[in-house]
Amino acid sequence: MQQRILGRTGRPVSIIGLGTWQLGADWGDVDESAALDVLAASVDAGVTFFDTADVYGDGRSETLIGTFRREHPDAEVFVATKMGRRGPQDPGEFTLANFRQWTDRSRKNLGVDSLDLVQLHCPPTPVFSNDAVYDALDTLVEEGAIANYGVSVETVDEALAAIARPGTASVQIIFNAFRLKPLDAVLPAAREAGVGIIARVPLASGLLSGKYTRDTTFAANDHRTYNRDGSAFDVGETFSGVDFGTGVEAAQAFAAALPEGVAPSAAALAWVAAQDGVSSVIPGARNRAQAESNAAAGLLDLPEGLDETVHEIYDRSFRAAVHDRW
Ligand SMILES: NC(=O)c1ccc[n+]([C@@H]2O[C@H](COP(=O)([O-])OP(=O)(O)OC[C@H]3O[C@@H](n4cnc5c(N)ncnc54)[C@H](OP(=O)(O)O)[C@@H]3O)[C@@H](O)[C@H]2O)c1
Repeated sequence: MQQRILGRTGRPVSIIGLGTWQLGADWGDVDESAALDVLAASVDAGVTFFDTADVYGDGRSETLIGTFRREHPDAEVFVATKMGRRGPQDPGEFTLANFRQWTDRSRKNLGVDSLDLVQLHCPPTPVFSNDAVYDALDTLVEEGAIANYGVSVETVDEALAAIARPGTASVQIIFNAFRLKPLDAVLPAAREAGVGIIARVPLASGLLSGKYTRDTTFAANDHRTYNRDGSAFDVGETFSGVDFGTGVEAAQAFAAALPEGVAPSAAALAWVAAQDGVSSVIPGARNRAQAESNAAAGLLDLPEGLDETVHEIYDRSFRAAVHDRW
C-alpha cells in the first residue's frame, strides 16, 4: 500500500485509510466482533490510517480502536479523531477548557497519552475564523495532549479559511465522484500550503458501490433512513447530499463504464486517491469483506477514461444541484 505524508503532520499514512463511523453508530448494527474484524482486516491489508470521532457511538468507535491497539501493540496506525459535536453547536463552546476536557476523554478512550491528530468536527462556520480557537489548539500541542490538529469541514470556504492558518495540519472534506467541488480551489490551496487532505464519504455513503436500487431501504437506526432530508445533521453527509434515485442511476452509469472485473467501489476509491493533493481516502466499512476490498483499491491502476467518465456523469447529473451548495 502506497503511503503519503499527511500534510503538516509530517507522518506517512496509507492512501486508503479506514473511516470508523460505522463502528460507532448511525449505520445500523455492527457488533463488537465485526467491528474489531474490520480494524484487523484493514491493518492486515496495509491500512495505517484510521479516522474516528468522540461522537461516533458516543465513544464506542474510539474505545474499539483503543481495544484493537491493546490487542495489537505492534500495529503501526495513525489515528485521527475529532471533537466538538457532543454538545451544543455554539461557537462559544470552542474554548481551551473544553478542548482539554474533550481531548482527555479521547486520549482515555484510545489509550494514548497524545492524540496523533484531532480535528474540529464540522463546527459552526464562525469557529474557522476565530484566532482564539487556533491559539487554544496550539496550546494543546505545546502541552503534548495532541501532536497535531486539523479540521473537518462542510464547505469549501471553511476549508480555505483553515488552510490559511499556519498550524492546520490537515483538512477533511467530502470528495468523491459525485462531489467534485474540492478540485477547483481546495486541492490546489492545500498543495500550495502543504496541508493534508483527508477525503471522506468517498463512496457517497455506499452509492458508488453500485449495489443499491431505487427500492433499497436501510435500517431505522441508519442515517441513510433518518437523515435523508438533513433533519439530524448536514444533509451532505448522507449520500453526499444527492437525490437517492439520481445517485442510483449515476452509479449504474459509473459501473457500466468500467472494464470487466473492476468493482465500482474500488474504481471510485482509486479515482479519489489519484487526485493531486489527496493524502488519504477514508471509506467506511461494515464488515471484513468491505474492508479488504477497499484496501485493495490502493493497488488498482486507474481504468483508462475513468476521469472523463467521472466529469461527464457529474456535469450531467449533479453539478446543477450540488456544486454551489457546499
Ligand atoms: N463530519 C465528518 O467529519 C464526517 C462525516 C461523514 C463521514 N466521516 C468519516 O468518513 C468515513 C467515510 O465516510 P462514510 O462512511 O460516511 O461514507 P462512505 O465511505 O462513502 O460509504 C460507506 C458505506 O459504503 C458501503 N461500502 C463500503 N465499502 C464497500 C465495498 N467494498 N463494497 C460495497 N459497499 C461498500 C457500506 O454501505 P452498507 O452499509 O450499505 O454496506 C458502507 O457503510 C466515515 O466512516 C467517517 O470516518 C466524517
